[in-house]
Amino acid sequence: MTQDEAKLLVAKRAVEFVKDGMVVGLGTGTTATLFIRELAGRGLKIRCVASSDASHALAASLGMSVAMLTELPELDVYIDGADEIARVPGLGFGLIKGGGGALLREKIVASAAKSFIVVADSTKLVEVLGKFPLPVEVIKMALPVVQPRLAALGLNPKLRQAKSGGAPSAIAGPYLTDEGNYILDCACGRIDDPQRTAAAIRAIVGVVEHGLFLGMATLALVAGENGVSEVRP
Ligand code: 5RP
Repeated sequence: MTQDEAKLLVAKRAVEFVKDGMVVGLGTGTTATLFIRELAGRGLKIRCVASSDASHALAASLGMSVAMLTELPELDVYIDGADEIARVPGLGFGLIKGGGGALLREKIVASAAKSFIVVADSTKLVEVLGKFPLPVEVIKMALPVVQPRLAALGLNPKLRQAKSGGAPSAIAGPYLTDEGNYILDCACGRIDDPQRTAAAIRAIVGVVEHGLFLGMATLALVAGENGVSEVRP
């Protein structure tokens, strides 16, 4: 099974957790996109809140009822992908998110939901977090302050660049989030104490949010060769 096939399989399973009348949080990324498309195809009577402009636009284009968090501040379930998923002793699931650049809104929408189902192919399930570079969202003008402080913590931060090439209008230069911030991708290696790392990053003035989602996901749906497993924290 390819990674794309696994993502589609888990997206289809995730839809089964959504029922008529629910307020559903829509994630961001390739797995979440497949989920949104599957969900739209079911024609359920639901209302949604998206975690990025891209997912909002996709859901609206598919005819889904999608509103802002200001209109629907309480969600029944948030369903989204992850870059890494690990069990963290005493905390439940620890995730790295933000590969798609939406970590801030993702964390806000997830925090507004009664449950958070993380959907992934089995390559995302790891013993220890940190092989995937940890994204940290930073206020633009704070970059010269934050970057050296993250470096001093040994986190090896690198400013994310917008993808260039392709369309003639493609803009090169630093990547900007939906909130107009920069992202520093921290290739820090294994994160043995995610709570400590999260607290150290959070303590730096100018950091808006980081991609460590600790104790937030309530269920992981993981697709591999044997189908989809329901993994609990
Ligand atoms: C976006 C995210 C995504 O959920 C994460 O990057 C996984 O993406 P994909 O489903 O494309 O592998 O956090 O900010």
